[in-house]
Amino acid sequence: KSSKIVVFGSVVQDLISYTDRFPKPGESIRGNAFFAGSGGKGANQAVASAKLGADVHLIAKVGDDMFGEMNLKNLTKEGVNVDAVTKSENSQTATATITVDGEGENSIVVFLGANMEMTADVVEKNKELISSAGVVVAQSEVPREGNYEMFQYAKEHNVTTILNPAPADPKIDKRTFSLIDIICTNENEAEMITGIKQKDVETAKKAAEAMLEFGCKIVIITLGSKGIVTVSQDTPVEVIPVNKTKAVDTTGAGDCFVGSLAAFIARGIEWREAIKCAANLASLSVTRKGTQASYWNLEEIQMASTSANTDTVI
Ligand code: RIB
Ligand code: NA
Repeated sequence: KSSKIVVFGSVVQDLISYTDRFPKPGESIRGNAFFAGSGGKGANQAVASAKLGADVHLIAKVGDDMFGEMNLKNLTKEGVNVDAVTKSENSQTATATITVDGEGENSIVVFLGANMEMTADVVEKNKELISSAGVVVAQSEVPREGNYEMFQYAKEHNVTTILNPAPADPKIDKRTFSLIDIICTNENEAEMITGIKQKDVETAKKAAEAMLEFGCKIVIITLGSKGIVTVSQDTPVEVIPVNKTKAVDTTGAGDCFVGSLAAFIARGIEWREAIKCAANLASLSVTRKGTQASYWNLEEIQMASTSANTDTVI
C-alpha cells in the first residue's frame, strides 16, 4: 500500500494575540505578544505529518494575495507538496483572528475565504492524486459536499480515510460516516454528532460507540488531559492516558494529533500504538507558541529521546 498522505483541507493565515485574559465585548485590552503564522486545520495536519518525514500532498485553495503566498512558501519549507494548492481568482486567503489567554486557552474567529471553493470539482481535478494515496485526511473547514465526494472516491480506490470533523458542524453529512475508517473528534464535536451530552470519560465512551453505529470503523475522542477514548469495530472501548504538560498555547494541538496519527498509520503502525505516539506529540506542541511552528520535527524528537532527563517520545 502507498505511504503517501493526501490532505484535502483548509489553509488559513493565523493572526494570534497573546493576552492575560480574553477581552469582554466592547473592551480593548493590551496584548503581551503577537504571532502571525501559517494555520488552517488542513495545512496544520499536513505539516504535522511532513515534520515526521511523511510524503504529504495538500489539496487546498488560497487567494491571490500576500497571505496566500506566505502560506505556500511556508508549507513548502515544511516539506508539504503544494502542487495541488491553487489560487482563487474570486476569494481571499482565509484568516483566523486568534486570542490566547494566560492559561494557553484560545478563542478563534475564522473567515474561510478561498476554502469555501473546495467543492466537488476540486476533487474531480485531483482524482489521480487521491487514488494514489495510502491515507486521505479531511476536516470541516471546507464545504461538506467536497469532503463527501473526496471520501467516496478514496474509498472506491481502497484508500484509508481519516475524518477530523472540526470545527463542530451541526449539519454534518451523515452519509460520510460509512466512508470513514478513522474518525477523530474532541468532546464538542462528539456531542454535536451524536447528540449525547459530553461531560466525562463515561459520556465519551457512549458517544464513541454511537459513532461506530454510524459506520465509522475506528472512533477516537480526545478529552484533553483526561485522555483519549477509542473503540473500533473489532475491539471494545478503552481509555488511553496522555502526558500532562504545561500549556503555553493549545491552538492547533488537535491538528498535531490528527496529522501525526496519519503519518504513523501511513507508515503501517498499529492504530492504538499510533494514537499513543500522536498524543505524545500533541502534548509537546502545547508547550510552544503557534500552530504549525509549535510542532516537533524528527530531529527535535530524536534529540529529546537521546537526552537523559526526557521520556522517550516515540
Ligand atoms: O485548529 C487550529 C486552526 O483552526 C488554526 O490554525 C486556525 O487557522 C483555525 O482554523
Ligand atoms: Na502550540
